[in-house]
Amino acid sequence: MSLNEENVLDALRNVIDPDLGKDLVSLNMIEDIKINGKNVTFTVNLTTPACPLKAEIERACINAVKHLVDEEAVVTPNMSSKVTQSRTPGQGDQNLLKDVKNIIAVASGKGGVGKSTVSVNLAVALAKTGAKVGLVDTDIYGPSIPTMFDIHERPNINTQRKLIPLEKFGVKLLSMGFLVKQDEAVVWRGPMVSSAVKQFLSETEWGELDYLILDLPPGTGDIQLTIVQSVPLSGAIIVSTPQTVALDDARKGVAMFGKVNVPVLGIVENMAYFTPPDLPDRKYYIFGKHGAKNLSEKMGVPFLGEIPIEEQLREGGDSGNPIVTEHPEAPSSLAFSELANRTAQQISIRNATQDPTEKVEILYR
Ligand SMILES: Nc1ncnc2c1ncn2[C@@H]1O[C@H](COP(=O)(O)OP(=O)(O)OP(=O)(O)O)[C@@H](O)[C@H]1O
Ligand SMILES: [Mg+2]
Repeated sequence: MSLNEENVLDALRNVIDPDLGKDLVSLNMIEDIKINGKNVTFTVNLTTPACPLKAEIERACINAVKHLVDEEAVVTPNMSSKVTQSRTPGQGDQNLLKDVKNIIAVASGKGGVGKSTVSVNLAVALAKTGAKVGLVDTDIYGPSIPTMFDIHERPNINTQRKLIPLEKFGVKLLSMGFLVKQDEAVVWRGPMVSSAVKQFLSETEWGELDYLILDLPPGTGDIQLTIVQSVPLSGAIIVSTPQTVALDDARKGVAMFGKVNVPVLGIVENMAYFTPPDLPDRKYYIFGKHGAKNLSEKMGVPFLGEIPIEEQLREGGDSGNPIVTEHPEAPSSLAFSELANRTAQQISIRNATQDPTEKVEILYR
């Protein structure tokens, strides 16, 4: 078959994105095909830079062109990405944060299970893939982000009187802790917190973002519910330890998001096991084995991975050096990168299966 643009495009119709179940051409992922002698180049726009299937899709594209068009072609795909946008229809204030493609809440039923640790490392891991990422600490009673990033300054204000988020490790961040005095915050009630969070989100110069992570306060009460209802979320991640008490509360978390029709992107099991540094092959299941994993199966919610208990992870949180930047080879760092990939994957799958008319409108707005 002769090597021309049309035949290359036809060959690429045979490459299926395994997550989205459709071929790359119908998904509008192929752009800019160029042929020069035997050299073929084209851009493949994946739905996230954190795509775990990037290498597999690249190989499939090369094979398709070589096998179906010209065995001697030298095929060099340019693997790029355009993150798709999602909003849960009818949920939250849809006019809020129009330049932010996906807003993800990180929640838990029980306190102290590692939401902030997960939010911080998820945000930094996503940023490391090349995505544009923001992180908001919505916990006005016990903000953690200032410590976890070792940032304590107040954000500046631009000429339109919008807050300019602080930036570290490639993540734009804001914490209620930068703005609200701790002794004032304790008397705030749910509606006050949620309107402050909403104002805080809308009156900030975020620019374009692929993912905005919201670190929620612990629990599934009035405050969490009102925050969740006022923001146009794409989905939520529930963090739990494997303990029964945490799992009971995680179940309530899943139910809370169900009540307001926000998809649960998945459950993360934190503090899943401990491996002593001198016994690298051993895993001690201190808080129980696979509790959150089993819960996700029982509830039909994706399982996003397990994070081990690590001293370095805790130290990194306390000193403002997230483990994914400080020790990228640590087992928990690898687990966080996998979490980032799976989260981005869940978002891409949901965005691709939304009502197409709605998606087109959002994409080309
Ligand atoms: N996998 C882990 N290994 C070691 N320490 C951890 C791990 N996950 C969290 N921690 C530590 O446990 C403590 C609580 O974690 P974190 O603040 O992230 O929880 P949280 O759910 O956000 O708490 P809160 O409910 O108060 O908001 C922190 O000191 C953190 O460093
Ligand atoms: Mg926290």
